[in-house]
Amino acid sequence: MLKSFLLIAFVTSGYLFTAQDDLTASVKRGKEVYSTTCQACHMATGEGMAGVFPPLAKSDYLMKDQKRAVGVVVHGLSGEVTVNGKAYNMVMPPQSHLTDEQIADVLNYVQNSFGNKAKAAVTPAQVAEVRKKK
Ligand code: HEC
Repeated sequence: MLKSFLLIAFVTSGYLFTAQDDLTASVKRGKEVYSTTCQACHMATGEGMAGVFPPLAKSDYLMKDQKRAVGVVVHGLSGEVTVNGKAYNMVMPPQSHLTDEQIADVLNYVQNSFGNKAKAAVTPAQVAEVRKKK
């Protein structure tokens, strides 16, 4: 009994450790993608530009719905959106030239930077799923 408990505890902690490790590596790769792809509009600090580019820093829009966030990067976004109580009505071009992994990485970066902390990581498989639709 104790032996099997220890075994389960060991395996579980190993799994958690690996998941955390994967996220750390993904966030690190995502920082590179961010600086070459998103930073020109959303700024290095993720603060965006008032009235033009919405913030990613502590963005209620970004953090609310993982699938929707993937969709913004894959398909782009236009029309009116409200981010942190402020309205934006601009056009973000699709970033579909990025690979599934690059999109997962950049989202893991923005969702775990600028004061954000995501509950779950984005995976390349989720990106592939969103890319298939539309
Ligand atoms: C050419 C400028 C531009 C680039 C490059 C760009 N965005 Fe955007 N982004 C925008 C604009 C403009 C909006 C708001 C669109 C609207 O008003 O409908 C937006 C909206 C968003 C939103 C939803 C609103 C929010 O602030 O939470 C997210 C998330 C987002 N962008 C992430 C990214 C990521 C990640 C990248 C890089 C892979 C990126 N964007 C690249 C201009 C850009």
